[in-house]
Amino acid sequence: MSTASPLVNDRFLRALLRQPVDYTPLWIMRQAGRYLPEYRATRSKAGDFMSLCRSAELACEVTLQPLERFDLDAAILFSDILTVPDAMGLGLSFAAGEGPVFAHPLRSRAAIEKLPIIDPNLELGYVMNAVRTIRHALQGRVPLIGFSGSPWTLATYMVEGGSTKEFAHIKGLMYSDPSSAHLLLDKLSRAVTDYLNAQVQSGAQALMIFDTWGGVLSPDKYREFSLRYMAQIVDGLIREHDGRRVPVIVFTKGGGAWAQDIAAIGADAMGVDWTSDLTAVRQQVGHLVALQGNLDPSVLYAPEPVIEQEVARVLAAFGHGNGHVFNLGHGIHQHVDPDRVRYLVDAVHRLSRPYHAAHS
Ligand code: CP3
Repeated sequence: MSTASPLVNDRFLRALLRQPVDYTPLWIMRQAGRYLPEYRATRSKAGDFMSLCRSAELACEVTLQPLERFDLDAAILFSDILTVPDAMGLGLSFAAGEGPVFAHPLRSRAAIEKLPIIDPNLELGYVMNAVRTIRHALQGRVPLIGFSGSPWTLATYMVEGGSTKEFAHIKGLMYSDPSSAHLLLDKLSRAVTDYLNAQVQSGAQALMIFDTWGGVLSPDKYREFSLRYMAQIVDGLIREHDGRRVPVIVFTKGGGAWAQDIAAIGADAMGVDWTSDLTAVRQQVGHLVALQGNLDPSVLYAPEPVIEQEVARVLAAFGHGNGHVFNLGHGIHQHVDPDRVRYLVDAVHRLSRPYHAAHS
């Protein structure tokens, strides 16, 4: 039984299912974040990043901040992909200016074997509280996106113990002890499936899997160590809830060359970064999935005429018809001026209408 308000703006869900819309919907990866002064204020009130994630009220507050300013077509749960390894006991902290750090990185088969099976409604109950609180506060204005990291991307952070440019430990494990790598990825796939399903049951209306580091793999290793596990997750997800389809977006940064493989795993949509041409990707996969992307985030450092031109270029690259959600090709940079974001949002809505005219 549902007590939720009906959706006022469902363009985002419709576009993900390749249904007609009157203009191209958009949201922005990391739309709640440090480029907004009100985010920085709430974050300092919370003390640190994880306290912000653990408070349903504050997580809800920052989720809504970008929607108060801009005419965005979706909200995304304020949390982080690294809450899952934290719940598995790795001890996550965010050192100021240094990114995430795990107190107990995974460096042995024994440690991987000992990783606990988590119950997302207990260890990650604070995320579910945030989802319920945000859904209530949204009152059906726009859909709420739930998310997780991909098993490969989570494993990268867990084995490295934080951010890396070299991937020495995780790739070392993959090449020298593939069976332990697979054991870890399989455990993570189960945890991520349960976690995403719990988000749907708490009120998430679409799901996104962030595979930030899949693109550092060779093609065969990508299929074996990343894509295969995302396929396993997609197979296990709740796809309909409260009488509506729950679309799933899979995003491998740097995965443009593997679009056909990605489109075949059964997700509704695929995220595309700015290094790929949307025309080419659509030609390869357009009958299978919707596409989300793919403006270079750095375009937002440029003045308005350049933003206008680049938005027009992305819209034209996708072309006429259904199945496009506009987004950046990766998260928004922290030094972007929020006024440029307002210009972007309005430009996408204005310039996209002709692509959805009835005759197209
Ligand atoms: O998109 C949103 O607005 C929702 C919230 C969200 C955050 N992280 C908040 C956050 C989402 C969807 C993420 C996903 C995430 N987290 C990814 C996948 C997407 C991507 O960017 O590739 C990854 C790899 C992470 C891991 C992570 N979290 C890193 C490496 C860092 C530190 C680097 C950085 O950008 O500061 C974080 C911290 C983080 N997660 C911040 C935010 C707003 C900044 C924390 C702060 O306030 O200082």
